[in-house]
Amino acid sequence: MTVIDEYIRSHPRSKQLHERALQHFAAKGVTHVGRMWEPFGPYMTHARGSRIWDVDGHEYIEFRNGHGALILGHCHPAVVKAIQEQAAKGTLYSASHQLEIEWAELIKSMVPNAERVEFFACGQEANMMGIRIARAFTGRTAVLRFEENFHGWADELVAPHAPGAVDTKTRIIPPHDLKVLEDELATRQFAAVLTEAGGAHMAGQVPWQPDFIRALGPMAGEHGTVWLLDEVVTGFRDGPGGWAGLMGLKPDLTSLGKCVAGGMPAGALTGRAEVMGMLTPGFPPARWIRHSGTWNAMPIVCAAGVAACRLLKDGSVQRRVNETGAYMRRAGNEALRKCRYNWRLYGRSIIHVYFGPVDFEVDTAGNPPTMDSRKLLAGSEEKHKLGMYLLQYGIHSQQGRMFILSAAHTEEDIDRTVQALVRAIGDAMAEGAIGELPGCC
Ligand SMILES: Cc1ncc(COP(=O)(O)O)c(C=O)c1O
Repeated sequence: MTVIDEYIRSHPRSKQLHERALQHFAAKGVTHVGRMWEPFGPYMTHARGSRIWDVDGHEYIEFRNGHGALILGHCHPAVVKAIQEQAAKGTLYSASHQLEIEWAELIKSMVPNAERVEFFACGQEANMMGIRIARAFTGRTAVLRFEENFHGWADELVAPHAPGAVDTKTRIIPPHDLKVLEDELATRQFAAVLTEAGGAHMAGQVPWQPDFIRALGPMAGEHGTVWLLDEVVTGFRDGPGGWAGLMGLKPDLTSLGKCVAGGMPAGALTGRAEVMGMLTPGFPPARWIRHSGTWNAMPIVCAAGVAACRLLKDGSVQRRVNETGAYMRRAGNEALRKCRYNWRLYGRSIIHVYFGPVDFEVDTAGNPPTMDSRKLLAGSEEKHKLGMYLLQYGIHSQQGRMFILSAAHTEEDIDRTVQALVRAIGDAMAEGAIGELPGCC
C-alpha cells in the first residue's frame, strides 16, 4: 500500500465530507482555490498554537496559518480575549468608535509613510481602492504590474485575459528590467505601479532584487505614477514596518491584510496624506472617492487588530519567527544535502520549497541568488504530491510548496518537520510518485 493509499484509508471522515462538499462547491468541493488537494484534503475541527486537528482525529504541525494571517499562531490568548469581550459588546455598530482610532494609531506607528489609513474587509479591497485613488490622483487609468505578482482576484488584479475578467488597461511586464520599466513609465499613461512586497507569491517565492525595487519608487515618482506596495502578506510579518521597513522603502501607498487583524477578515490601505486625500470630501467633488462597505472597521475586527498590533509593535514576535525560519532553512538544507536530495528551502518566515536541480546557496537573508522565476516555481505537481505525503506524516503545509511559520512554532516542531520532509521525499521517490532529479549535490 502506498503512503497516499494509506492517507485515504486513514481519513474516512474527511473523504466523506469531501464527497458531500462536491455537491455544493463547484471548485472541486473547496471554498478557496488554495485549499484544493488531490485526492482530497483533511477537514479540520480545531487548532491551537502550532497545531491543527482533523475530523479523523489526526494532529498536524500547522504551516498554513490562516493563509499567512496567523503570525501569532492559532488562538493567541490576547486575541481570543479581545474577540470574546467585543462579541458581548456588539460586533457591528455602523457608527464610529474608539477601537478604529486605536487600531489606525498602531498601524501608523509601524508602517512607513502611513500618514492616513483606510479600512476594508480584505486585502484585495485595499488594492482595488489603491488603484482607484491612484487614478483619481493622477487623472490616468492604466495600471502597471509584474509577472507572477499576486494581488487578489478582482479585474485589475488578475491576468488581463483571465476568464470572466474585463480588460482593464492593465499591463504586465517582467521583473528586474529597469529599461523596460522606464520605457513603460515614460509613456505617462500609468496611474499606479503595483509590486508584491518581498517578491512574487507569499513573501518572495520569486524574490525581488533589492537594487531593482529601490530604483522603482523614485522612477515611478519621476513619471507621475503612484507606487502601491502590496504588503498584504509581509505587513507586520517581516517586521513591524513590513518589508518596506526592512528595505528602507517609502511607497506612496501600502496595502495591508492578513496579520493586520490577528486572524479576522480585514484589509487596510495606508499612504501619503496628499494621495489618500482623494477620499476627502470637499476635494474637487468630481474627484472625491466615496468609500462605503458594511464591514469596514467593524468593532470585533478592530478589537482583534488592536490586540494583534500591540503584540507586533516592538518586533519581538517577528524576530522570533524570522529566527525560526533561519533555523528551518539551516536544519532543512543540511538534512537535504546529507541525503543528497536535490531540493532546498529558502525564504524568511515563509519557507519556500525549491525543486532542483540545486546549483546555489541561499543568502543570509534567506533568498536564493537571482534566478529565473520558472526555475523557482518549477515542480508544482511534485510539490503537491510531497504535500500529501507530509500530511500523512503529520505536517499541514501549503501543498508542499511552502511552510508558513508563526511565533508558536518551536525548534522541536521544526526538527520533526525536517525529519518528515526528508522521509516524505524519500518515500515519494521510492514509490515513484516523484522522479529523481538529475545532478545530485
Ligand atoms: C500579496 C497578496 N495581496 C493581496 C492578497 C489578497 O488578500 P485577501 O485574500 O485578503 O483579499 C493576497 C492573498 O493571499 C496576497 O497574497
